[in-house]
Amino acid sequence: MDAISVIRAKRDSEELTGDQIDWIIDAYTRGAVADEQMSALAMAVYLNGMSREEIARWTAAMINSGERMDFGSLPRPTTDKHSTGGVGDKITLPLAPLVAACGAAVPQLSGRGLGHTGGTLDKLESIPGWRASLTNAEMMAVLRDPGAVICAAGEGLAPADKRLYALRDVTGTVESLPLIASSIMSKKIAEGTGSLVLDVKTGSGAFMKNAADARELAATMVELGNDHGVRTVALLTDMSTPLGRTAGNALEVRESVEVLAGGGPADVVELTLALAREMLAGAGLTDADPAKALSDGSAMDVWRRMITAQGGDPDAALPRARETHTVQAASSGVLTRLDAYAVGLAAWRLGAGRARKEDPVQAGAGVELHARPGDRVRAGAPLLTLHTDTPDAFPHAEEALKDACEIAPSASYTPTPLILDRIG
Ligand code: URA
Repeated sequence: MDAISVIRAKRDSEELTGDQIDWIIDAYTRGAVADEQMSALAMAVYLNGMSREEIARWTAAMINSGERMDFGSLPRPTTDKHSTGGVGDKITLPLAPLVAACGAAVPQLSGRGLGHTGGTLDKLESIPGWRASLTNAEMMAVLRDPGAVICAAGEGLAPADKRLYALRDVTGTVESLPLIASSIMSKKIAEGTGSLVLDVKTGSGAFMKNAADARELAATMVELGNDHGVRTVALLTDMSTPLGRTAGNALEVRESVEVLAGGGPADVVELTLALAREMLAGAGLTDADPAKALSDGSAMDVWRRMITAQGGDPDAALPRARETHTVQAASSGVLTRLDAYAVGLAAWRLGAGRARKEDPVQAGAGVELHARPGDRVRAGAPLLTLHTDTPDAFPHAEEALKDACEIAPSASYTPTPLILDRIG
């Protein structure tokens, strides 16, 4: 077998054989297929797609490229959530301790942000002392008690995906349904969770801008999970507006703690509870009451113990950016649109995100929203506050936000539901 014949086959829209897929993933992981060859193949997949059979085999080959974790010795059922990524998407932070407080174990292997979407690990790293990298033994200890762990995936988990994802990121081949589905599901299946809930985003701030594509991605991932024995469902959720009132690392931690304290923005609470109910159902804990666990402080208790177990100080003051700048409403009326992509881009330019994997992020940078779609605003009133340590970034952030808001003179606003569908 050789790489050129596999690239040619996909270039010419042929269906790859199982042997071709197994060979190329294995050879790429071993370093026997060069990055430029894999880039060409990724572009051919991007342009010509893959059948469900090819996606299933590609996913299995990526799982087999590394180790599989086993949580069979834990006394509780395991369940996990994965979001396809969005702006202000801090849901993992309150969700993992909430579901653990209701009796499940939550092994939440998370990533860092790239581009306009934030990353869970970057957010948590704004807590003084908190560590994302744990050994497998440390991870198991936190999963036993307090029951939820949020940490970086070890090097051994789906290493083919690690290499391929980094390559896709710099070759314009991220936004491919077969490559996204196999990338996400290979990691989640190798992680060894018993059940999985996918939060598949659609709208301007999501990878999949269009709902039909997002639905197809969700259905593909649900099938992959169930075929590998992981009970999987997906919620299709709106990402045309940022979630909550903040986008940025420490800003989002602060908002998540508000949710755990029984408050927080209504949309963040709604999605956290909906995903918690799905996760608990997947884990067989249908009698659990996640709303009660938020209001009685038990989710907050798990959060504090989880942060402490990973070296963080849950009582430490969170970093704040050195400079702020307020963007005012240009007219009076009802805010009818606040574009998620624009807010994500502004937060990124302010320093909350990174352009390359190795770039640092600013803990305090980001965007705070003073109004959400549906709210009445007055001309000249604060609409957004921009936070950064590097004030040179303000004009670039404002440029990103130039067409982000629409204010209508009268109440011509029809709310979009946050949860659009359930698949599975
Ligand atoms: N997240 C992943 O892990 N992989 C993708 O391809 C896209 C988002």
